[in-house]
Amino acid sequence: MKILSIETSCDETAAAIVDYVPSQAETGAGQATVLANTVSSQASLHAKWGGVVPDLASREHIRNIVPVIEETLDRAGLTPADIDLIAVTQGPGLMPALVIGVTAAKTLAFIWDKPLIGIQHLEGHIYANFLNSRNDQTPPPKADQPGAGITKPTFPLLALVVSGGHTELVLMKDHFQYEILGETQDDAAGEAFDKVAKMLGLDYPGGPLVANRADNFRLKIEDCKVSSPSEKSKISNLKSAMTFPRPMLDADNFDFSFSGLKTSVLYYLKKHEGEKSDEKFIDATCHEFQEAVVDVLVGKTKKALAFYSPATFVIAGGVSANVRLRMELRNLIDSEFPDTQFLTPEFTYSLDNAAMIGIAGAIRYEHMNEADRTALRESYRTLEPNANMPFQNLV
Ligand code: KG4
Ligand code: ZN
Repeated sequence: MKILSIETSCDETAAAIVDYVPSQAETGAGQATVLANTVSSQASLHAKWGGVVPDLASREHIRNIVPVIEETLDRAGLTPADIDLIAVTQGPGLMPALVIGVTAAKTLAFIWDKPLIGIQHLEGHIYANFLNSRNDQTPPPKADQPGAGITKPTFPLLALVVSGGHTELVLMKDHFQYEILGETQDDAAGEAFDKVAKMLGLDYPGGPLVANRADNFRLKIEDCKVSSPSEKSKISNLKSAMTFPRPMLDADNFDFSFSGLKTSVLYYLKKHEGEKSDEKFIDATCHEFQEAVVDVLVGKTKKALAFYSPATFVIAGGVSANVRLRMELRNLIDSEFPDTQFLTPEFTYSLDNAAMIGIAGAIRYEHMNEADRTALRESYRTLEPNANMPFQNLV
C-alpha cells in the first residue's frame, strides 16, 4: 500500500510517500520503501527570533503545504489515484502549525475519497526506527534498492524519546502499546540545547551547533596533536574549571530534569562574562553541557534497560541525531546489554519528517480491525488537531 503522509507540527512543512508491504510473521512489521520524502524547513526564518514563532510558522505552512505535497507526488512519480491511505500528524505540537497539515489532509481525503489516519508525532519518531533502521551489523540498502526497508525491531521495546518538546522513556510490550516509564519534569533535552545555544549567542536551532562545537572540543582533548602546548593547557584549564550538574541522575526513578542544568550554565556564564566571546570558552561550555545531558540520558537508560530487559532499544526525536549520545549508548549496549538489539533512525529520519508519520500510519492501519479501518473513510469529517495529544494505545 502507498501512504501519503503530512507533518506540520512545528517549523517543518513535510510530506512523504511510503510504499509498505505488510507483515512478515516473525516481526509483525512489514517492508517499507520511502518513494519520496520532502522537508521544507523554516529554521532560517525563525532564527532571527531565537525560536519558533507560532503565527509565522502557520503562515509559512500555508504557503508551502501545497507545493510540498505536489513535489512529493512528482518525485515518487505517482498520481492521487495511486494513494491508498493518507496519514497526518495530529499532535502534539503548535496548534497554528498542526491545523494546516490536518486541514490539508482532510481536504485531500475528502476530494480523493481516501481513508485518513491521525498519528501522534512521538509515535512517528519511534516508528522512524522501523524505516530503514539497521543495527551496525546490517549492511546499508544496496544502491539498486534505494531506501529498501529493513524492519526488524522486536518487543518488548524500550524507546528513549528526546526531541525539542519531549524527553521520555517509553516501554512498548507490543505495537501501539505504550507505557511511559519516566519523563522530564521541566525542560526537554532539545529545549535545553536550544536555550544554552541562545545564551552563548549561537543561532536557532542550537542543538546541532552546540553538538558540533562540543565534538570539536572533545577531539582536541582526545587528539593532543592538533593543539600547540599553550592551546593544550588553555583547553585543559577550561575543561577542569567547568563542572555542570547531572540532575536526577541518581534519583530512584526514570524521570528527567534539565532546567537546573540550564540555570547552572546561565550562572556560570554570568560569573565569566568577560570570556563569553572567547571561542574556546564557548566550545568548552558546549562540551561540558553536552557531557552532562548525555550522562543523564545514558544513566537513566541504563537503569531502564537493567530493570526491563527489553529485546530492542531505540532512540527517537531530534536529539537522537546527536553523535555523542549515539556513541555512548552504543558503548553501554555493547558492554552491558549485548542481548538487546540497539536501533537508531537514519539521520534523515531523526529530525522532523513525514516519512516517519507514513510508516507509523501504515503499521497502525495494518493492526486495526476492519470496522476501525472503515471508520477512517469518515475521518475527513471529524479529525481534529490536538496540541497536547498523548500516546494512543491501540485496543
Ligand atoms: O524532533 P525534532 O526535530 O522536533 C521536535 O519534535 O521537537 O527535535 C528538534 C530538537 C531541537 O531542540 C534541536 O536543537 C534538537 O532536536 N537537535 C539536536 C541535534 N539535532 C537536533 N540536539 C542535540 N544534538 C543534535 N545533533
Ligand atoms: Zn519531532
